[in-house]
Amino acid sequence: MRDKLRVGVVGTGGIACGNHIPAWQQMPNAEITAICDIKPEAAAKGAKLTGVDDERVYDDYEEMFDTEELDVVSVCTPNCVHMPATVAALEAGCHVIVEKPVATSADEVRQMIAARDRSQKLLCVVQNMRYSNEGLAAKRFVDEGGIGKAYWAKAEYLRARGVPAWGAFIDAEQSAGGPCYDIGVHVLDLALHLMGFPEPISVSANTWLEIANRPSVMKHDPKKYTVPEELAVGFIRLEGGACVSLAASWALNAPGNQNNVSVYGTEGGIRMRPFTLIREERGMMQSCTPEVIGESGLGGHAEEIRRFVDAITRGGQAPVPPEQALITQRILDGIYASAEAGAEVKV
Ligand SMILES: NC(=O)c1ccc[n+]([C@@H]2O[C@H](COP(=O)([O-])OP(=O)(O)OC[C@H]3O[C@@H](n4cnc5c(N)ncnc54)[C@H](O)[C@@H]3O)[C@@H](O)[C@H]2O)c1
Repeated sequence: MRDKLRVGVVGTGGIACGNHIPAWQQMPNAEITAICDIKPEAAAKGAKLTGVDDERVYDDYEEMFDTEELDVVSVCTPNCVHMPATVAALEAGCHVIVEKPVATSADEVRQMIAARDRSQKLLCVVQNMRYSNEGLAAKRFVDEGGIGKAYWAKAEYLRARGVPAWGAFIDAEQSAGGPCYDIGVHVLDLALHLMGFPEPISVSANTWLEIANRPSVMKHDPKKYTVPEELAVGFIRLEGGACVSLAASWALNAPGNQNNVSVYGTEGGIRMRPFTLIREERGMMQSCTPEVIGESGLGGHAEEIRRFVDAITRGGQAPVPPEQALITQRILDGIYASAEAGAEVKV
């Protein structure tokens, strides 16, 4: 094996330039050797950040995979490109790390898993909230029996005024879903991760599009707002009796933003913000707000990528395997299906 993994980045917009590229640049045993973006200005920004030669800057990822000898690919495009770019990269013999939400439907995730199995490479999904210092500490607390049997989680990512005005977020053709897919996925993943990913059974949900296109809220072009919702609220039943309450918004008449996951169990509980651990001990409920010192100091994306590189180089599982992302995607798809049906739906 070469001493450095050769990394290709597909899509060099906000998340690639802000997180993936800096994360890869912190990995001593990896090097970005090619990039691809369909927009020349985004490709130019990616080229400047990475320093890759002009002939290794592509506007077609198929051509990049055919021409370059890559070991790993970061997929950082709008959601509708996640599945085709991931499948093409796996078929070209690359390991892949793909941004959240993993895809635009559960069927697409199944195709990605099938391609992963054919390729015998690793496929990892970005769920960076797990790899914050608090995310790592919360998981340790759970794994050491801190909360006992988890039976309810509350997962909220509410923006009062936060419709994304850049990229493809509000465009249904490219993103498929609104805040439910965009930010609901973060808190839902973290809740399920802390609960041990029980199998989902059913979802009862509603979605609303009421205020996002008012001039007072808008920084976006309202004609482009084609995703179904600005607010999604759901109640998810899981195997074994546990449940999750989920809410995600880009626009809501609320006093401020809220990004929080709480998990409640028989022996204790966790709240992520402010980071609070609760234990029922000696007949008393004790709660503490520990100072969490980072294990690596890298932060969410870089810590997940570091673990992904470890799995590639030393052998092991992807830190966030697509099987878990499939569970999350089935629930997110169920939220839209339930809202449309006006009834609880099986997932
Ligand atoms: N994990 C997180 O915290 C986080 C934060 C923001 C965005 N994201 C995710 O990252 C993805 C991208 O979001 P963003 O904010 O970077 O958007 P962005 O619009 O800033 O960047 C996406 C880039 O992909 C390029 N692109 C589109 N189609 C392409 C194709 N076929 N081939 C190559 N490049 C293509 C676009 O030209 C653009 O430059 C989304 O799926 C989003 O959900 C994750």
